[in-house]
Amino acid sequence: MEKTIISHGKDETIALGVSLAKLLRPEDVILLTGDLGAGKTTFVGGVAQGLHIHESVLSPTFNIMKCYFDGTLPLYHIDAYRLEGQNIEIGLDEYIEGDGACFIEWPAYIAPLIPDEHLDIEIKNLGGNDRSITFKSNHPRYDLIVEEVGQ
Ligand SMILES: Nc1ncnc2c1ncn2[C@@H]1O[C@H](COP(=O)(O)OP(=O)(O)OP(=O)(O)O)[C@@H](O)[C@H]1O
Ligand SMILES: [Mg+2]
Repeated sequence: MEKTIISHGKDETIALGVSLAKLLRPEDVILLTGDLGAGKTTFVGGVAQGLHIHESVLSPTFNIMKCYFDGTLPLYHIDAYRLEGQNIEIGLDEYIEGDGACFIEWPAYIAPLIPDEHLDIEIKNLGGNDRSITFKSNHPRYDLIVEEVGQ
């Protein structure tokens, strides 16, 4: 199942993240793909807001991963960008399919750690502040999310 929503600005992308947050459960794995500056981290910021996490989500540029525990569900945010070509056996698997929802930017760089069942979110820059955000599911669990997100 697949759904594409057009965002016309940062705030609309955040609102979409908020709407996804309400649908999340522990062990969910969500992959975010799209070019540098597409809006992946901005989207995760919306998810954090929807989970009532108070800390603001920044690019975990130098951290690889950040955990947020003060919301309605633990949120794990992995940015694998800096793991390209590196040893990826650094314990991330504990958080992927863990007790929270795990969002992964640049998942291709940790491909062996990605479970088959996951939700794909692809963000494309359409120019200016316009972005297409495509939700793609390969499992009934995530079909439910694709159906309801952004409604
Ligand atoms: N519709 C939009 N949705 C999201 N971000 C937008 C939108 N329009 C403009 N922007 C801007 O685009 C930038 C997106 O940055 P962000 O850090 O979220 O991208 P990213 O995909 O995580 O990049 P990276 O791969 O470098 O981590 C921000 O500066 C944001 O303000
Ligand atoms: Mg980012």
